[in-house]
Order: sequence, then C-alpha cells, then structure tokens
Amino acid sequence: MLAQAVGYSQTAFGRAEEDGFADLATRASRGALDAAGVEPEAVQALFLGTYAGLALGGQGFPAAVVAARLGLGRVPATTLEGACASGSLAFHQAVAAVEAGVHDVVLVVGAEKMTSASTAEVTKMLASASDIASDSYRAGLTFPGFFALLARRYLYDYGVDAELLADVSVKNRDHGSRNPYAHFQTPVTRDEALGARPIAEPLRLFDCSPISDGAAAIVVASKEWASAHGTERPVDVLAAAQASGPVSAEELESFVSLPAVVVAAEKAFTTARLTPNEIDVAEVHDCFTIAEWIATEDLGFFKRGEAAAATADGATRVEGGLRPINPSGGLLAKGHPVGATGVAQLIEIIRQIRGESYNQVAGAELGLAHNVGGTGGLAAITVLGRG
Ligand SMILES: CC(C)(COP(=O)(O)OP(=O)(O)OC[C@H]1O[C@@H](n2cnc3c(N)ncnc32)[C@H](O)[C@@H]1OP(=O)(O)O)[C@@H](O)C(=O)NCCC(=O)NCCS
Repeated sequence: MLAQAVGYSQTAFGRAEEDGFADLATRASRGALDAAGVEPEAVQALFLGTYAGLALGGQGFPAAVVAARLGLGRVPATTLEGACASGSLAFHQAVAAVEAGVHDVVLVVGAEKMTSASTAEVTKMLASASDIASDSYRAGLTFPGFFALLARRYLYDYGVDAELLADVSVKNRDHGSRNPYAHFQTPVTRDEALGARPIAEPLRLFDCSPISDGAAAIVVASKEWASAHGTERPVDVLAAAQASGPVSAEELESFVSLPAVVVAAEKAFTTARLTPNEIDVAEVHDCFTIAEWIATEDLGFFKRGEAAAATADGATRVEGGLRPINPSGGLLAKGHPVGATGVAQLIEIIRQIRGESYNQVAGAELGLAHNVGGTGGLAAITVLGRG
C-alpha cells in the first residue's frame, strides 16, 4: 500500500523561551492534523522521534505524554530514538505501518528542547551518540571534534583550501534568510564566516549547526485513505531506507565517507527506481559544513572530492544551481533540534514538491532527505515524489 504525506506543520526553530518539550511537540502535531483535516480521535498511531528529551529536559516517556495532550485516544504511541536521525526513524516507522496495512492514518512528530541546558551539557549529551566504551569517546571526542577530523582529512585527501568550507555556510545562511522558521534568518558573508571564532579547527562558528529547540510533524496516510478523504496535493513516499554504521571514530575505515549513508542511499534509489541525477532537490544533514560535502558525495550527487568546487561554483544554490541542496538553509541556518531535524527536512521536501516553498526549486517533482545519527551510526534516506 502506498504511503503519502497528507499534512505538515512545524514550530519556529531557535530558542523557545516559554515552551517545554511537550508544548512544542503538541503545537506542531495539532498544526499537522489541522492541515491534513484529521481530528485527533481519527489518528490510529503516533510515532515520536526525540533524543535528548529525558537527558536535557527531564521528560521521559514522551510519546505517551504527547498522545495524551493531543487527546488521541487509546492508540499505540511509540518513541523512536536514533540520535540526530530520530525524526526520520519515526517517519519511516509510520510509513512501514501504513505500507503494511496496519494503519491508515498516523501522526509523526519529531521534537527537541535543548537550549535550557548549557553548551557543555548538550555537547556531552550529544557525544553519547556513539559507543561510550570506545577510545574516541573516552578520550573526549565531541561532535565538533569528530567533524573537524573529517574536514581535515577531506581537505588533505583532495587538496582543498580550508576557506572553501565557508561557501557552504554562506549558501545555507542565504537560503535560511528566506525561511521564516529558521533559527538564523540573516545571511553571513564569506569574510564573517572566515573571521568567526574557531570551534574545532578547521571548523569555525558558522561551520557548526546551533543548539536549538523545535518540533515538526507530518500526517502519513495510505493512498486509499487520502483519496477517500479528498486530500489535496498528497506527496508519495517512494522510498524510506535506513542503515547502520560505525559507532565510534576509530571504527571508520574512511574519514571522507559514511558507509551507512552509502548503503541506505543505494537501497533508497533501488526502491524508488531512480538515480541520483533524477532528484530535483535534496535536504542533507549539514550538522557541520564538511558534512554537506561528504553527504552529497555519498549520495552520488557529486564525484569524490568534487563537492567543494561544486559548492564554490554555486551548483548547490537554489538560485541558478543545477543541484539545489538545503533550500531550507539546512541545519546550519534552520537550526538543529535533533529529534525534529529529520521531520523538518521532510517537510521542506514536501513544500518543494507541492510548489509552496519560500525557496522554491522550479518544477521540483522528486526530492530526497538525508538524515544521519551519531558518527554515522545511523543513516535514514527518504525519497518523496509528486502524488
Ligand atoms: C558551536 C557551538 C559550540 C557554539 O556554542 P557557544 O559557544 O556556547 O555559543 P552560545 O550559545 O554562547 O552563543 C553565542 C553566540 O553565538 C551564536 N551561535 C551559537 N552557535 C552558533 C552556530 N552554530 N552558528 C552561528 N552562530 C551561533 C549565538 O546565536 C550567540 O549569538 P548572539 O551573541 O548574537 O546572541 C554550539 O552551537 C554547538 O555545540 N554546535 C554544535 C551542535 C552539535 O554538535 N550538534 C549535533 C551535530 S551531529
């Protein structure tokens, strides 16, 4: 049975002073249900993606809490955790349930409340998305540190100038400046990016995604349900593929490719019967600038070592680019409330396919979302198409 996305909503990403985790998740969920024209009592299951809810916000048991607040009734409510890929895991479980004919209409929500904790607490919490018995974790390798290692290796292997990393943040901050939900809605210049304070060499402040709060929700339904309910502009789920990979830095065979992404992408393209060149628009997991280069090469959008020059040439811009990447501004500009990120990426792809984005890629019919957890320990790739 074909699964379709039939409604979506998200909160603004950034610092949510007033709202707690469940407030954010509930608001996004209600918005998605309204958009889909679905009453809470009609929802047959809830899949919620979050990573830090318990550790940072003290809210354990999130799916049951959000289901109760929404008044969903006595339906299954399940929390999915896959670090920064938690939101995609929730979406994939919803799709699997609909495709298997278990449910006809389900709610997916990803949410995170992070800014109430200090940067040090968040950094420690995020670093635990790895094997905590590994040497790299015990030596204190943080996520900025890990991606700095990948950046150093990429620059060395392909003889790329470190200053080219700034082109990714300048492009994504420019895209994000038109995204009304983005954490950062101001562009940055190349000079500002290159002059920003160092975080983990060669990564500077604008090479890093921020610590954000936010929630995003999508209603997934069977094509039969959507047709029977007269859903306008449903978006087809053409593939939802997931793979596992190394859970510590020392397990990686290469520092310029994440094997879980390569495997999940192969599965996704096979299932969707598409090649990378047929994808019109993609949201990729640019938790750090270097991650966007590696993602676009692992996905087959660019040959190895060529993403840096392609970015510098403007190929990944919405305006005039042949391969538009991260029209939302990506994690770098949109923000990265980790459990919400995968769902928000999918929302941007739905907007693009429906032709309703603030950064519309002309004629976009096929889109891909690439969401990664940990040191590449999980990758979830989703392909959506016009219904
Ligand atoms: C980069 C980082 C360490 C900066 O944190 P920090 O030094 O504590 O910064 P603060 O929160 O004190 O913010 C200070 C200023 O920098 C800005 N800022 C913080 N992080 C930023 C980022 N990533 N990009 C741009 N600006 C940022 C803040 O908006 C604030 O600006 P203001 O003074 O104009 O209000 C933090 O954002 C971080 O850890 N990011 C990575 C998160 C991560 O690893 N996610 C998982 C990825 S897999």
